[in-house]
Amino acid sequence: MAQKLDPWKSSEISDYSKLFEEFGISPFSEMSEEIPDPHKYMRRGIIFGHRGYEMIADAIKNRKPFVVLDGFMPTGKAHFGHKMVMDQIVWYQKQGAIAVIGMADREAHAVRGLTWEECQRTGVEEYITSLIALGLQPENARIYFQSECQPVKDLAFELGTKVNFSEMAAIYGFSGETHLAHMVSVLTQASDILHSQLPIYEGPVPVVVPVGADQDPHIRLTRDIASKMNMFLIERREDQTSGLSYWSVRGKNAPEEALKEIDKKVRGGFGGAGVQTKLSKEHIDIFGGISQNELTEIVKNAELAHGGYAFIMPASTYHRFMSGLTGGKMSSSIPDSNIALSEDPKSASKKIMKAKTGGRESAEEQRELGGEFDKCSVYELYFFHLADDDNELLQIRADCSGGNILCGECKKKAAGKMEVFLTDLQKKREEAYNKLPLFGIDYRRKSEKI
Ligand code: TRP
Ligand code: SF4
Repeated sequence: MAQKLDPWKSSEISDYSKLFEEFGISPFSEMSEEIPDPHKYMRRGIIFGHRGYEMIADAIKNRKPFVVLDGFMPTGKAHFGHKMVMDQIVWYQKQGAIAVIGMADREAHAVRGLTWEECQRTGVEEYITSLIALGLQPENARIYFQSECQPVKDLAFELGTKVNFSEMAAIYGFSGETHLAHMVSVLTQASDILHSQLPIYEGPVPVVVPVGADQDPHIRLTRDIASKMNMFLIERREDQTSGLSYWSVRGKNAPEEALKEIDKKVRGGFGGAGVQTKLSKEHIDIFGGISQNELTEIVKNAELAHGGYAFIMPASTYHRFMSGLTGGKMSSSIPDSNIALSEDPKSASKKIMKAKTGGRESAEEQRELGGEFDKCSVYELYFFHLADDDNELLQIRADCSGGNILCGECKKKAAGKMEVFLTDLQKKREEAYNKLPLFGIDYRRKSEKI
């Protein structure tokens, strides 16, 4: 049966590799080698897929400007699933990216029914403070709430000129019952992803959006809209009779002058290398002597000069989800299945002590056969969060499968690590309130009201 990715139901994905064929997600393993010092989520295959990541690897390697962009729906508690996204944002910022973070209060209001005030409070007290506590720096960072960001809202409306109801229905299963605000929130997410490329913000530089696989429908839609918004389509083609390959630049309702300008620049700028062009009303064919980068740059500048967007297709990565501590899905409706970033360290450690493991029926059996770490939610905690060092992780794995350690002791160790981590994080989350103004956020806690 075909899998369905639904951003609003925490559907379990049974087989990640199927996503490659079904949705055209590329395996991330092919990219990992391109990155000088890959994140542990990359090394461990937790980030398993991507779209269009080549330009991001290039930007990291060659220190070119790029943006890491993400959004959080401010509902409920920020938990360790969100931490995965936050860790990546912080990592990209260290790699030289500008971090742009949207609080998806439109989505929370439209889809989950939160009031604007609740969105504000949850956004700051759960998500933004955690992000800062996990290491987000104020330099090269921009945090905004969708409902307060006029350019994002304006662009969302504009993007709506390129999507009709049937397309939305096909992607998200929307029906006649779906509220219009829900659809607007989808356009707003597309706008989140594209708005950093507006000239008033970071401009057309590459953008990467690290998300869980459930968000891929949004990414596909956004990439589709972006290409529809652009004035020009650049393609490599082959002449049927001569077999020569050439570049084709096709205008989609582009002003004729823009096309002429591209033609002139291409011939003028690189004519020495024997560039020949064939200009017609709606397209140019270009033979020889120009690289894709040079051509892309010329087309981008002409498009911007004529009021176009010249969006670069946003890139994305997809990570797997942890399963719940109780086995099965991690779900906010089963409190013991997950740990919040704002959780009391003692309560977190209790949850770990109760967690489902891959332990055997008896201690003897476990010493003999070893534990099954691949079925163990505690091992997953180490794998995703509690063991940064690969050697440490390998040791835990070996101790488990060799029967050298029993689950009680192993859980205790994990619980101890969790307590240390959360105690430190809570302190940093408290300190984060003082840093909010550095991020341009004006916020007063309820208790602080004057
Ligand atoms: N829909 C996302 C979620 O449910 C939140 C989100 C809003 C987002 N805008 C975004 C994610 C832009 C990535 C990029 O978590
Ligand atoms: Fe899990 Fe540790 Fe038990 Fe192995 S020993 S099954 S990793 S709790």
